[in-house]
Amino acid sequence: MRIDKLLSHMNFGSRKEVKALISAGSVRINGVQIVKPNFQVDEEKDRVEVEGQAVSYQKFVYWLLNKPKGVVSATEDTRYSTVIDCLHPDDYRFDLFPVGRLDIDTTGLLLITNNGQLAHQLTSPKKKVVKTYQALIQGLVTKETIKTFQEGLDLGDFISQPAQLIIDEIDSENGRSKIRVSISEGKYHQVKRMFQACQLEVMKLHRLSMGPLHLDETLAIGAYRQLTQTEIQALIPYGYE
Ligand code: URA
Repeated sequence: MRIDKLLSHMNFGSRKEVKALISAGSVRINGVQIVKPNFQVDEEKDRVEVEGQAVSYQKFVYWLLNKPKGVVSATEDTRYSTVIDCLHPDDYRFDLFPVGRLDIDTTGLLLITNNGQLAHQLTSPKKKVVKTYQALIQGLVTKETIKTFQEGLDLGDFISQPAQLIIDEIDSENGRSKIRVSISEGKYHQVKRMFQACQLEVMKLHRLSMGPLHLDETLAIGAYRQLTQTEIQALIPYGYE
């Protein structure tokens, strides 16, 4: 890989800034100063230093974010902050993107990575990766709703795959329900549309899990962390590298 590409991946600046850093003589490879931005390095073997500090190259990175409300699941947006803006500048890399989408008002688990193959596996409809959401519903969810979700709902443009619905709490006085729902698809506004089709309205939506990844209680809204070794092991069948 070119040294300017490697350094810009590692957040040393844009390609232009990194080129200036290299031309200024700040970069050494295996102890030898280099000045050419197209210098080829073996990221596995070569020792790279910038201003005397060793740089260890990480090809792929994985952040588990508890998405807050009000940010969009995109890499850039003209109107809103994005989930990438939730990362500290030290953790930013230009090649990061969210795996799948949560609506702007949905909170909860979102994986941010630069591993396109893994993202594809986790979001491909063929893989039927299960996503579980917790929701506050305006209206009373009943056994009949559970059955309808299990059987699949006609949403006009498609019929939903069987979904598991669990009632956690019914507040008959205020006509509200707390539920958990697990779906193996990820169509636009899918959960909201499924409840709407049953004359119910999603007031709050929070994703608890996606495949083997679960949100832990300790991760506050807006906080993020790296995947644990156990989570990494669990992602191997999905193309983790
Ligand atoms: N379904 C929705 O309706 N919204 C989300 O953000 C995720 C799933």
